[in-house]
Amino acid sequence: MRQEVVGAQGVAAQDLARIADELASAHRTLSSKSEGGLEAEYACLNLAHAMQGSLEAIQQAAGELRHFRDIVLIGIGGSSLGTKAIRHALKPEHDLPAGGPRLYFVENIDPYHMDHLLSQLDPTSTALLCVSKSGGTIETVVQYLILRKWLKKALGAEKARRHQWLITDPDQGWLRQLSREQGIASLPVPPQVGGRYSVLTAVGLLPLAVVGVDIAELLRGAADTVARCRGEQIEKNPALEMAALYYLLDVSYNKRISVMMPYVNRLRLFVDWYCQLWAESLGKWDTKRPGVPATGTLPVRAMGAVDQHSQLQMYLESRHDKMFTFIELAHWDYDLEIPLDASERAFFPYLEGKSLVDVIHAEFVATRQVITDTGHPNMTLHLPTLSAYTLGQLIELYQRTTVYTGLLYGINPLDQPSVEKGKKLAIQHLKDMTTCG
Ligand code: PA5
Repeated sequence: MRQEVVGAQGVAAQDLARIADELASAHRTLSSKSEGGLEAEYACLNLAHAMQGSLEAIQQAAGELRHFRDIVLIGIGGSSLGTKAIRHALKPEHDLPAGGPRLYFVENIDPYHMDHLLSQLDPTSTALLCVSKSGGTIETVVQYLILRKWLKKALGAEKARRHQWLITDPDQGWLRQLSREQGIASLPVPPQVGGRYSVLTAVGLLPLAVVGVDIAELLRGAADTVARCRGEQIEKNPALEMAALYYLLDVSYNKRISVMMPYVNRLRLFVDWYCQLWAESLGKWDTKRPGVPATGTLPVRAMGAVDQHSQLQMYLESRHDKMFTFIELAHWDYDLEIPLDASERAFFPYLEGKSLVDVIHAEFVATRQVITDTGHPNMTLHLPTLSAYTLGQLIELYQRTTVYTGLLYGINPLDQPSVEKGKKLAIQHLKDMTTCG
């Protein structure tokens, strides 16, 4: 990301020095707003420690849910993306034990998908896990209602009730009311923790525990990042350093697009999680500050090596408005030697004695090299392994980096005012349909 490496398009040392006070101030704000555990304004940055006390209740609920063969998680945005990301990285669908539990995600509204799902499931061995912080998100509510009716029809109201779990605000919203009135099992989302920052609460921990992810390790990894991000200087705080670089590349170097490109298939959904976190937290235009420019860089998903054959041409020859974050895995649990017979050895002498890990590594190094040679700022996160611990580190690192970046922009990284506007308008359209009808 630095000028010493990529030339004029990288961040100059004097730019970092120039914002040293802003960085220290962002760190102080983050620290003071994080005081108070789950009561803090930035409670989302305290989960590594504050959720320890809830692990027992979460494990108990997970044990009960594991009696079902199929579990349908209904939730959208922050209520599902983090869970999907970690599940995909650590317990990919095809690795799950045949007898279950199998976890399905009902996220976007799609009648075809819903119909197909229902045709696959047996209500006697299916549980519903409805996740919504607000307890009223329309996509989640309507799909929960359909699935609940399907359960009730097959099992009767009382038995169907025992096939349901809710994760929602501890006091407010329709789901909380339902849980109270009908005695449906539930776990709380800490009130101060917003959707996209909630994967380390019951929102992610419960379903992940059900499929066998070591959730204590997730929190231990997150706690490691917390411990490594205590300094107010970038040399002693990787989240602050990343925020400083991402921020400066936008405001001082016109890099408006931020591409994340892991060289690990199992991190594909991690990138989706990151995209939501980054976009919804930092894409802001403060109407109360006329003349102050809108903030945020556009997060873009890419995958190595696939997008070398799709996007790379544009990365190399189009505008210099991009920055790149690569993620590389140092140690793979699996590897396969490339088998060559004599004639193939003559054709591909450089593959002699090589494995798939060697090839993906070479692809990564080569792509990073051409990106660097073209002058595009880029950083690489090296994951030693893919584990609950390293995923916990990574989640916490990006949550902190996002909050720091928001503070540098001078915006609130925890709200999403325009998303709320969209939700209200959709409801208005439904009302209008009723009136017209
Ligand atoms: O980050 C956010 O706040 C949003 O993406 C929410 O997670 C999403 O809108 C779903 O909201 P809820 O959990 O209230 O159903």
